[in-house]
Amino acid sequence: MKEKKEIKEVLGHLRKLLMANQETGLDLPFISADSLKSLDIKTDRDSKPSGQPENAESLEQLRSLIGDCRRCKLHKDRNNIVFGEGSARARLVFVSEGPGQDEDREGRPFVGKAGKLLTKIIQNGMGLTREEVYICNVVKCRPPGNRDPEKDEIGACIPFLKQQLNIIRPEVICILGRVAGQALSKKDFRITRERGMWHSYMDIPVMPTYHPAYILRNRSRERELKGDVWEDIKKIMKRLGLSKK
Ligand code: URA
Repeated sequence: MKEKKEIKEVLGHLRKLLMANQETGLDLPFISADSLKSLDIKTDRDSKPSGQPENAESLEQLRSLIGDCRRCKLHKDRNNIVFGEGSARARLVFVSEGPGQDEDREGRPFVGKAGKLLTKIIQNGMGLTREEVYICNVVKCRPPGNRDPEKDEIGACIPFLKQQLNIIRPEVICILGRVAGQALSKKDFRITRERGMWHSYMDIPVMPTYHPAYILRNRSRERELKGDVWEDIKKIMKRLGLSKK
């Protein structure tokens, strides 16, 4: 019994070594996960803490990994998961807080009033199409009554946002509003203070700006707020070498 345990341990170490060596390009024999399984040896995959998502190689794969998600309480009231949409090769990704009522109904991000304004910014302001960029949220299910997503909900969903960003690897992330800003940086992130300045997330340059819904809620300051957003968008365009067509 003791010998079998020792053999398993040695083989486990050996497998790790071989896997590390694979990356160096050395042509060494490879012990498959299946053959280790027959010996009841734990692999890294087996030892992943439960609840931690596996890595996907494409957005389609990631979407199917998420499945009919019940990882947090937001699943109870949602109608549709709003995964995100746009180009997997987008140079620019917009990240906002979470779906609203219209988005929950349609299963697509930014399709309501705020979405119309965002679409205008992308099309009329930047000279791009929605299909050329990528639009997604920190949480993929609508928080009831459009409340802010809670810490545990963000914690359950943010690994998927990270995977989206890792798959796309955009040149710029545009954060829309305080809630997304807090989720991607620090708790005391204030949109009025941080917007218009370059930040970084996962080594990707980040430009925060006002959430389109904030502009729509503050009609008396509409001109001023739109002017600020345009300044921020111009910085993104400059970084991407874009000029309006
Ligand atoms: N507001 C958001 O934060 N996200 C959406 O997808 C739509 C509105």
